[in-house]
Amino acid sequence: MSTLDDMIAKALAVRENAYAPYSKFKVGACLRTDTGKLYAACNVENAAYPQGQCAEASAIGIMAANGERRIVEVVVVGDGDELCTPCGGCRQRLNEFAAPDTPVHVCGPEGVRETFKLGDLLPHSFGPDNLDGGP
Ligand code: THU
Repeated sequence: MSTLDDMIAKALAVRENAYAPYSKFKVGACLRTDTGKLYAACNVENAAYPQGQCAEASAIGIMAANGERRIVEVVVVGDGDELCTPCGGCRQRLNEFAAPDTPVHVCGPEGVRETFKLGDLLPHSFGPDNLDGGP
């Protein structure tokens, strides 16, 4: 199994645990870091709708909690006819820990639908380099 296949399998598996009783739209995400580790997580919604959390945000939290800081590959698995591209907020969250050329594989249950570079999803971004005292 390729690393990408492994990432998709992990995102698909964790997607089963998505807590999405309001939107009914389950999402799984898997991040690969520069150490080769994989962090997968799902979306977690809330009765107070704005408090819901995307799968990418959940995965970034787990990654950071494990002391990791560099994302080198991203998988997002959603469903439906449209591409499940990361929302604007998650593009910004990913930008904090990934480079413009980091691949973001947008997948359906059947596999990769389209692959983007993060910099194409979030051009002219504002990131750590814009701030003195950044990492
Ligand atoms: N969602 C994600 O978790 N990631 C995405 O890339 C797009 C949207 C979630 C948020 C919400 O729980 C549900 O999908 C519907 O918007």
